[in-house]
Amino acid sequence: MALSPQWLDELRARTTLSAVIGRTTRLTKAGREFKACCPFHNEKTPSFYVNDEKGFYHCFGCEAHGDAIRWLTDQRGMPFMDAVKELAAEAGMEVPAPDPRAAKQAEKRASLHDVTAAAQAWFEGNLRGAEGAHARSYLARRGFSDATIREFGFGYAPEDRQALKRALGAFEEPMLIEAGMRITVEDKEPYDRFRNRLMLPIHDTRGRVIAFGGRILDAEANPKAPKYLNSPDTPLFDKGRTLYNLHRAAPAARQSGRMIVVEGYMDAIALANAGIAEAVAPLGTALTENQIELLWRQVEKPILCFDGDNAGQRAAMRAIGRALPLLRPGHSLSIVRLPAGMDPDDLIREKGVGAIEALLDKPASLLDTLWEYEKAAAPLNSPEDKAGLKARLMGHVDQIQDAEIKALYRRELNDRFSAFAFPPRQQREFTPRKEWKKGDWNRPAATVSPEVASQLRRAMDGGSRDAFSKAVIAGLIRFPDQLVRHEQALSEFARRDQNVGPAIDLLLETAETLDLRDGSPISLERGLPALPAKTHFAFLDEGTDPDEAREDLAEAVSLLVERPALESAMAEATARFARDPEGSIAEQARLRERLLALNERLKQFGRRKAAGPDDSDS
Ligand code: UTP
Ligand code: MN
Repeated sequence: MALSPQWLDELRARTTLSAVIGRTTRLTKAGREFKACCPFHNEKTPSFYVNDEKGFYHCFGCEAHGDAIRWLTDQRGMPFMDAVKELAAEAGMEVPAPDPRAAKQAEKRASLHDVTAAAQAWFEGNLRGAEGAHARSYLARRGFSDATIREFGFGYAPEDRQALKRALGAFEEPMLIEAGMRITVEDKEPYDRFRNRLMLPIHDTRGRVIAFGGRILDAEANPKAPKYLNSPDTPLFDKGRTLYNLHRAAPAARQSGRMIVVEGYMDAIALANAGIAEAVAPLGTALTENQIELLWRQVEKPILCFDGDNAGQRAAMRAIGRALPLLRPGHSLSIVRLPAGMDPDDLIREKGVGAIEALLDKPASLLDTLWEYEKAAAPLNSPEDKAGLKARLMGHVDQIQDAEIKALYRRELNDRFSAFAFPPRQQREFTPRKEWKKGDWNRPAATVSPEVASQLRRAMDGGSRDAFSKAVIAGLIRFPDQLVRHEQALSEFARRDQNVGPAIDLLLETAETLDLRDGSPISLERGLPALPAKTHFAFLDEGTDPDEAREDLAEAVSLLVERPALESAMAEATARFARDPEGSIAEQARLRERLLALNERLKQFGRRKAAGPDDSDS
């Protein structure tokens, strides 16, 4: 029947909602609205409001929400068309005559429903009969109670290729094919789709059987056969718009305020078997936009409950990717990560329902999941790696359509990124020691040609080197074995920094020609150029234990390479100004702060030892 949105609006406008609801629920006036104890959930103080102007009811407790038609279907249990007809009669409106083509389609759907309903009754009968013994013992082995088996409508499809055809003889072959129950291949006799399988009915939101999943019973005997065979998409069944178990889970979710999404049929059933009724599953595909919207109609934050292994986490990320463009205020997803290699069914069997309840009690937010996933997705050793992380995070942010949520995600992820990529460094205490080990100046030195030696002297001393850069170069000459350790960070730095870069390049090249195994310094014959008087670096001090000196040098190297990384992040933030002024300015401010802190630490670094109490004995 073709009801236009305009016609339905007219019907709503002519209906006084409080009068319709007031027939069965006692309403009291509250300002311009009416209130009542919510008829959709148990409560002692009223949080259910009816607004005649807007034509909507809303419960602030359980979020039940709808118009007059929704009231009659959801609360009074009327079929949609009956609700429309009743309201139209009261409003003095004529229900438009059915469009013959639409009516024919509706009729066909109705008769396809008859096919699936008949098939369901037949499958259930088979399970109870002699043929079903094998399937019954399989179900018992899995620990499903009789009540669960009945509630979920388990059935059995026998081996015979024509058994369903015989049993459903009242329907014509084309109907059986269109309902997905039989398969037709050119020139051959059609045959039953489901054979020797445990059958699971799939329902629409109104609880009508629209499709089936069939699980193989002896997987060992048929290693090549798919574990599950599902109905194809039919006029009744669109798998991207259906969630397994939604018709049972939705009322339960409205009561508990929780909706759980698991990966498999059997997981939803195992949860119900353990007393958790509000679980649904997509049908073997990634969660679709439509399914996310379906979930959001039930609760604001459905909980995705996926395997902790890589495949499960990728599935969770795919769902998140679908959800990002759809995010709107108040609506999100939360995510529970199961122990790797376990589905909820396994977890309940091994650890009891308490184990899964505990996980469901503290799901991770969508943002946390994004952050953790991307942080773990690739190594983060070089500035490029870190910039890659940032790009991936901002790529997700760009998917968000809602401006407010987008800005909040950007800010939070930027903060986390900065704190992670540019962490404040701790200052360490040094206890200088007198005994000399490998790497002391007095050990036999790695010799380089006089030409390289003078190049290195120039590299250290040349141009506008600041004391800190000079000291780091000297440190690397003293501990050339450390050039290998910091090779990646240093060559990175060399590419970005015009001033000190060439000296570092020269050192890296020189290191390739030396045997660095015994940790000896590079000999420069005439010694190192002097460092400015007031500076003092522990890693150059003969009194510092060489191992500690190496760690101190490592800290100095990371301070040295951090500045260009910060500066390029700053350039990127500045370039973003036109697109995202607010984010850009905030990011610039944060980076400026880090640069200041870095400069401060740099100053401290050279002075630390000089000002320390041990000054006198070195
Ligand atoms: P699982 O293999 O995790 O299924 O696949 P499960 O529900 O845990 O099944 P059991 O415990 O082994 O009996 C997850 C979902 O992927 C779809 C089904 O919807 C299944 O529930 N699937 C899986 C298929 O459609 N075909 C397959 O061959 C396998
Ligand atoms: Mn399973």
